[in-house]
Amino acid sequence: MDGAVQPVYGPGEIDFDSLEDTPEEYRKMLRTLIGKQYIGEIAACEMFSRAVFHMPDPIHKAELVHTANEEADHVEAMHELATRAGLDVEKWLGIRRPGGAHFLGSEEDVKDWIEVTVFKHMIDRCGRIWLWSMRNTSFAPYAEVLRPILKDEARHGQDGADEMIRLCDAGYREQVQERVDYWFPRGLQLLGRPGSEGNRISYQYGLKLHDSDEEMKKWLGEIKPPLESAGITLMTPEQVKEHGVDVAGVTW
Ligand SMILES: [Fe+2]
Ligand SMILES: [Fe+2]
Repeated sequence: MDGAVQPVYGPGEIDFDSLEDTPEEYRKMLRTLIGKQYIGEIAACEMFSRAVFHMPDPIHKAELVHTANEEADHVEAMHELATRAGLDVEKWLGIRRPGGAHFLGSEEDVKDWIEVTVFKHMIDRCGRIWLWSMRNTSFAPYAEVLRPILKDEARHGQDGADEMIRLCDAGYREQVQERVDYWFPRGLQLLGRPGSEGNRISYQYGLKLHDSDEEMKKWLGEIKPPLESAGITLMTPEQVKEHGVDVAGVTW
């Protein structure tokens, strides 16, 4: 975060043994971050598994099963981390909306191949940006779990971008544009509200080193070039604000 004071804990300074010596506020925020990711991984695993039916041929189906399997690995890794870090897993899972993911909701799901592709390029990548903020987190066991996950997620985003460009070249530009318009404000929203109390506490303890506005900038820097190559436009900051999304001073 620009101009902020140094975090209380440096990268990897805390482990399971020293966790109990940290302030309650630290442990609470750590569990919140782990819990949010845990639910996000479950959501991704579920969504990609269901979406296999939408894929048009055996190769695309197999590729998506592979992606869903990687998300399943992330779920297992996060489950173990969450349990060891003292997260009340039952409580976290209990707050999920019935039949769907915490951030997708039961009524919001991908409808076809085009939407799976846009989702991979934009929303799955959004999750990765959030994890990128924590790559040098002060809780060493978390940083360790994140390393292989970040590698998988980078590939998911790239696969989505490549496929999206192919779809546009094949005559589906209008449909891709429609899904981009739908998911773009939701992606910004997923990155959180810039300057929030959660961002402040996370930074203070070295848990998450970037505020939501920095994450938005990084996300935009990654999603924009493939969208441009595909001939897709993004709605303006003014249009996004009409959707009730707080982007602070971020422009594009
Ligand atoms: Fe994942
Ligand atoms: Fe992913």
